[in-house]
Amino acid sequence: MKILSIVGARPNFVKMFPLTKIINKSKHDHILVHTGQHYDINMSDIFFKEMDVKPADYNLGVGSGLHGYQTGEMLKAIEKVIIENEPDVVIVPGDTNSTISGALAAAKLHVKVAHLEAGLRSFNRRMPEEINRILTDHCSDLLFCPTHVAVRNLKNEGITKNVFQTGDTMYEIAFMIEDKVNAIPRRDEIPDEYLLSTIHRAENTTDEKLPKIMDELGRLNLPVVIPLHPRTKRKLQSLKLLEKTNNNLNIIDPVGFFEFSKLLKDSKAIITDSGGVQKEAYWHEKPCVTVREQTEWLETIEAGGNILAKPTEIKEKLDIMLSNEIAFKKELYGYKDTSLRILKILETLEK
Ligand code: UD1
Ligand code: UDP
Repeated sequence: MKILSIVGARPNFVKMFPLTKIINKSKHDHILVHTGQHYDINMSDIFFKEMDVKPADYNLGVGSGLHGYQTGEMLKAIEKVIIENEPDVVIVPGDTNSTISGALAAAKLHVKVAHLEAGLRSFNRRMPEEINRILTDHCSDLLFCPTHVAVRNLKNEGITKNVFQTGDTMYEIAFMIEDKVNAIPRRDEIPDEYLLSTIHRAENTTDEKLPKIMDELGRLNLPVVIPLHPRTKRKLQSLKLLEKTNNNLNIIDPVGFFEFSKLLKDSKAIITDSGGVQKEAYWHEKPCVTVREQTEWLETIEAGGNILAKPTEIKEKLDIMLSNEIAFKKELYGYKDTSLRILKILETLEK
């Protein structure tokens, strides 16, 4: 079988690597395509190096731009690669513009589409990722869901065929790398006790919301380490806020997955708007404040490990989380052999 996978943005790499490793070791041909959506070394190359995954077979070099431009350029370039390679199946992970472009290109060429991390919904169609998820699910032939909530979401939209609850590859990878993470030394500038924060969502990096979020982070009782996403950095620069940030904020460049996992494990709590980081916080038993109005990862909220906050509520919600006894349940997102389960399902396509 010839399998073609499409990645492009930081969370795509993390989700896809455990499956990439398993497919690369199997008898099947694997073509890895990188759209170039993320391109800074710390947003892209570092992940391949750390995980010892060879660079993608194609880098389409699409880069940044408005949604229409970025998605359109990816669609054109991916279509060419699919025509050239004639894969049996195209795997698209997550909910980024790279995901929807890959799914659309493959579906229109009548190539089977497999969506990794299918069925997630925030029910907020103002999020670009929500549009990407819905459209990708609706043109996928195989839907690999991390949770039963995701399976239920698909059912509610009439998608029941070829839906598999396989667990979450991000859970799998978190435990694959434990030894490497434990071996990483702590940087000198990181204090003994700190909070870890990542903020990058389009809805939070606005002129109105971002200053409020930075103000709130600056008045927390512990120093806050912030590996700053390039989108957020640009916005802080354009608002002339980067040089004015409070001393309580320890802003660093984005870091690789191993170092981020180490920072997460050593922190007291997490403040984020990332999808992936909410789950990782839960697996590493760290209280999490999610600066959003909804989350796709309802299980973390229901289990008491995560709480939603408006920008001005971060301190209040963090105080609540730090005063609660949280009973973390490791098994929330399933199995440590998700990729193998997925490969076995893909192999049924051969028959
Ligand atoms: C994208 C995803 C989002 C995901 C995030 C993970 C979409 C619609 N959004 O958002 O779901 O949570 O990735 O990080 O696909 N930039 C750089 N260097 C880079 C990459 C980006 O400077 O290597 C800057 C550019 O100014 C760019 C901006 O960041 O315009 C936003 O990048 P983009 O990939 O469009 O969206 P993200 O916010 O990263
Ligand atoms: N991450 C990382 N370095 C960082 C910040 C995040 O390696 O500086 C990892 C994090 O551990 C998680 C993934 O990036 O696995 C999440 O990606 P991101 O927050 O960019 O996207 P989202 O999950 O919100 O789509």
